Amino acid sequence: MTIPVSRVAAMPFFPLHEPPATGPQGQPLRRLNLNESPMPPSPGVIAAMAEAAGGAHRYPDGEAMALMQALSAKTGQPLDHLFVAAGSNELLAASAEIALDPGDGMVAPVPGFPTYAKLARQRGAVFTGVPVTAEGRLDIPAMLAAVTPQTRLMFVSSPHNPTGAVMTAAEIEALVLGLPPHVLLHFDEAYYEFGRAAGGPDALPLLARREGPWIATRTFSKAYGLAGARVGYGIAATPVLAQAIRKVRPNFSLNIMALAGAVTALSEEAELHALLESAATEQAYLAKGITELGFTPLTGAANFVAALKPEGAGDLQGALRERGIHVSGFDLGGRAALRITLGTRADHDAVLLTLREVLTANV
Ligand SMILES: Cc1ncc(COP(=O)(O)O)c(C=O)c1O
Repeated sequence: MTIPVSRVAAMPFFPLHEPPATGPQGQPLRRLNLNESPMPPSPGVIAAMAEAAGGAHRYPDGEAMALMQALSAKTGQPLDHLFVAAGSNELLAASAEIALDPGDGMVAPVPGFPTYAKLARQRGAVFTGVPVTAEGRLDIPAMLAAVTPQTRLMFVSSPHNPTGAVMTAAEIEALVLGLPPHVLLHFDEAYYEFGRAAGGPDALPLLARREGPWIATRTFSKAYGLAGARVGYGIAATPVLAQAIRKVRPNFSLNIMALAGAVTALSEEAELHALLESAATEQAYLAKGITELGFTPLTGAANFVAALKPEGAGDLQGALRERGIHVSGFDLGGRAALRITLGTRADHDAVLLTLREVLTANV
């Protein structure tokens, strides 16, 4: 039997199986490749989710008003500019759905979050990937130059995955003012809390200066440690745009356990600050350690460290994997780089020890 839509038939399939709990030699697997939080949810969040499970025979509130109200209070944004979904992945898809017909253009940075290119394929749109700079920063003039009359959607992320680069206010301003109004600007802030904690700008007042449409999205998967619960939210330029996202979102996709967990997590300011503080400490520790091993860390702020590998280092990602440590790799203008998610201090010591062993053995 064939799949009726040929562009879907032609899409590559990357199954997202959970890795085994142990590495090849039976050692505990260190998952440092998906930018998850190393900390489980707080007891308060777990209790709220467990209590909500008692009502799982009912559909959730499809408009998620308790979470929307908590987000409005937290962000200072009016309710009719907000929207929520089961993870920000679902919101990236919503943008593609409201902006792209087959044949339209999408512009996004490369390397970048893989979902952007996947969504272009899925919608039958033309994907234009714009290389980031040698330092791993978004190349705003090049991204603006890549826009054509057919372009309908641009994705940017700040902090950027996989390089960690945080856009400056001047870069956001140049993008916001230079992008023509026929393009929907999707400002992906999955690592928002880390960027702000490191002194990055508040993008919303800058985005508000844009004449054309924009939306910004954030997630509970990273700083709030709820990747497995699937909760994302966003802010749109206008109520009409926020409503468009709410129109196309799958009905009831945010389940009641996730909703309860997110509302509680949002109220736990102390837990968030502790996580951000520990992330900053661990980022500095890991960056210093790999610098001593000959890596060149990129400047950024997220729950990972991105770094260029030492010259001639070989397949470090594969070598780490053989020793039960999963990290991810990417190419930066022809130079190989690793992206290592921040874990516990024990994870970082294991990474540093293993890299030292592998690099010494390679010499
Ligand atoms: C840049 C970026 N955007 C979006 C997401 C999606 O996050 P989620 O769907 O868990 O909210 C991620 C996850 O890694 C990401 O790195």
